[in-house]
Amino acid sequence: MAWAHWGCCPWLILFCVYVWSHPTPVDLAREDVRNCSTSPPHLPVTAVNTTVRLTALRQKIQAWNLSAYIIPDTDAHMSEYIGRHDERRAWITGFTGTAGVAVVTLRKAALWTDSRYWTQAERQMDCNWELHKEVGTTPIVTWLLAEIPSGGSVGFDPFLFSIGMFFPQSLDLSKPAG
Ligand SMILES: *[C@@H]1O[C@H](CO)[C@@H](O)[C@H](O)[C@H]1NC(C)=O
Ligand SMILES: *[C@@H]1O[C@H](CO)[C@@H](O)[C@H](O)[C@H]1NC(C)=O
Ligand SMILES: *[C@@H]1O[C@H](CO)[C@@H](O)[C@H](O)[C@H]1NC(C)=O
Repeated sequence: MAWAHWGCCPWLILFCVYVWSHPTPVDLAREDVRNCSTSPPHLPVTAVNTTVRLTALRQKIQAWNLSAYIIPDTDAHMSEYIGRHDERRAWITGFTGTAGVAVVTLRKAALWTDSRYWTQAERQMDCNWELHKEVGTTPIVTWLLAEIPSGGSVGFDPFLFSIGMFFPQSLDLSKPAG
């Protein structure tokens, strides 16, 4: 009896050491999401480097005399689930969730998505992108009005928007914010 009792002890000790040395889930979560406050920023292996893509888009934005460009999550049929060919937002941001709108200006790049996707966005986006944990068009339009100069133009693909949905009549884009 005594032998059996002592025989299990090494396993108990090993188990304790394993539990003690194993990172807690909180630490793991910090490793697999980006942290843009550290220097250099911490990027998980799942993050997509969008620097070259953003530079290319900003060259086009400048060539078209725009101040910003909106990339929605939909296709020309206003679908939520879209073909790979239509995954514009996923390509420019790295974020592959089905819901989320991106806006790129010459200085900033921002993504708006809902709480289902916040962690996924922090895993997939690099620090070129700011994450806005909001939904709906009003926060996007408010941000745009603060970011772009008065009289600036905002570009978008007209096939991907229903004007009534994206620009509610209550928002007057001709006036600066404030
Ligand atoms: C990011 O890093 C900063 C500085 O090291 C730290 O204070 C902060 O808690 C980190 N944020 C996350 C979400 O891990
Ligand atoms: C992203 O790619 C650019 C261009 O290749 C490179 O200069 C930059 O260092 C990369 N950024 C990161 C965080 O790896
Ligand atoms: C952009 O603005 C410049 C200077 O006003 C003008 O020459 C050019 O034609 C404009 N480009 C486009 C695509 O409208």
